[in-house]
Amino acid sequence: MESCREIGSKIKENSKQLVDKLNPIKNLETDFSIYKTKVSHWMDILFQYLGEGLSENVQTAEEKIKKWADAFGQRSTDMEIPLDYALHFIFESRVIVSGILEKEFETHGSKADRAIFAANRLNLLIDTAARSIVTHYTTFMHNTKKALQHTNRDLDISILELNNIRTALFEGTIFSVTDQDDRIIQVNDHFCELTQYTREELIGQDHGKIFFSGVHSDSFINHIQQEIKSGRVWNGEICNKAKDGSLYWVDTTIVPFLDPVGVAYQHISIQYDVTEKKKTEEILLKSEKVSLIGDLAAGIAHEIRNPLTSIAGLVQLINESDQEKNTFFKDIILTEINRINFIVSELMVLAKPHAVYFSWFNIVESIQNVIDLMQPEANLRNVIISFEKEKDMPLVYGEKNQLTQVIFNMIKNAMEALPDGGKISLSAEPVDGHVVLTVKDNGVGMTDEQQKRIGEPFYTTKCNGTGLGLMVCFKIIQNHGGTILVDSKQKEGTSFQITLPVHAVAAVDPLHK
Ligand SMILES: Nc1ncnc2c1ncn2[C@@H]1O[C@H](COP(=O)(O)OP(=O)(O)O)[C@@H](O)[C@H]1O
Ligand SMILES: [Mg+2]
Repeated sequence: MESCREIGSKIKENSKQLVDKLNPIKNLETDFSIYKTKVSHWMDILFQYLGEGLSENVQTAEEKIKKWADAFGQRSTDMEIPLDYALHFIFESRVIVSGILEKEFETHGSKADRAIFAANRLNLLIDTAARSIVTHYTTFMHNTKKALQHTNRDLDISILELNNIRTALFEGTIFSVTDQDDRIIQVNDHFCELTQYTREELIGQDHGKIFFSGVHSDSFINHIQQEIKSGRVWNGEICNKAKDGSLYWVDTTIVPFLDPVGVAYQHISIQYDVTEKKKTEEILLKSEKVSLIGDLAAGIAHEIRNPLTSIAGLVQLINESDQEKNTFFKDIILTEINRINFIVSELMVLAKPHAVYFSWFNIVESIQNVIDLMQPEANLRNVIISFEKEKDMPLVYGEKNQLTQVIFNMIKNAMEALPDGGKISLSAEPVDGHVVLTVKDNGVGMTDEQQKRIGEPFYTTKCNGTGLGLMVCFKIIQNHGGTILVDSKQKEGTSFQITLPVHAVAAVDPLHK
């Protein structure tokens, strides 16, 4: 006759075969085979423990089953096995073991108390397993629910924030979205108003072509495209053409949106209309130029009169002398004419207000030209100008006339800060990808208050000053992507430091339309 102990051992030994007997849940046969593969190892162990519980110490087996259920609960939630499936497997194992017990006791005619004893043990063990699994799932659900509530709250907040940003963008800016080929996919009402196109006319158009104004150089446009393609944000002022052909200026920030591989799949552009601001700048720049040229005229006249006087004298001498001397005089005359030519052409550089041409040029040469031009004025004022330059200066990409004007303004200010004469020291040196220019004088210097205010339009401490020179300088350097630093002490002097990127951002002259 088989005892409970023997049946238990048998179950333990044959655990693997028992796993094969697990039946599917009714009506769900397809899924079942997948789940069965996932759990077969676990069920093998459960059968072993059940066998152990029947044949040996039931408490030890119960402990083991508890641990098993914890681990199995964890695994089955990880493997996304639904609770009813997990429970089904556990109850199926009871069906199989009960079947074995029933059969064994029947064949061997065991006494009822033995059968009841075995059945009780089996129920105890199965109960333990099922209870642990349910507890595990309940905790899991509870935690998931909490986490979801948190995420929902976070989502609510960020959706609110997104909505605020969206409103700000739509109400407060001129706004458009383009795809990776620069085709317009979204615009707001302000954008339509400014460009005078309807939304229907704009969607699908090439953003670069439809507003093309012809104001910007190819290199300027290429530079923007390159920046965005490399995933960088671009900011600057752009001149575009509206539907009626009129031009408008927009301060533009273009933000590329990158996919996970880092490729820009669309761009958002946020713009502010700065057309009016540009017009004001234009007026200021013009009046400053007029005043500069007026100031220069006296010095220039003097400079031209000197060589002219010597030419006149030499011409009178020519006929009265021999051929050899004539050649000598001719050379001097030619040199003097060249000098006049040079002065006039420099004056033209400053006078020409609308010629805008970005190019690579030698800034050292331009500085030297300005110094040469101002030398006579400096001599009159007892001012010594020195210029220290590095040998291998890189070329600078920018608007030559505008940058020359900056140098001119700086030297002119320095000279005016030296009423009793003094020194102006200029220097130019390359510093990692930048060119650093300094204009330093040992003149009257500035108070802190003055230093704060310079660059404001019409701020001047001179009775015949315009207070526009530095404003124009700051604007020009800013348009070239550079900076100006001022260091000044009263009665000691002033130093202006201009830093320009070698490949200056190719901005354009606000006057050029
Ligand atoms: N090198 C300098 N030394 C002392 N003060 C200066 C110097 N450069 C500029 N400033 C101060 O800045 C003011 C503004 O200069 P600017 O804009 O060129 O106008 P303006 O020369 O017509 O006064 C000057 O009036 C002067 O007070
Ligand atoms: Mg000035």
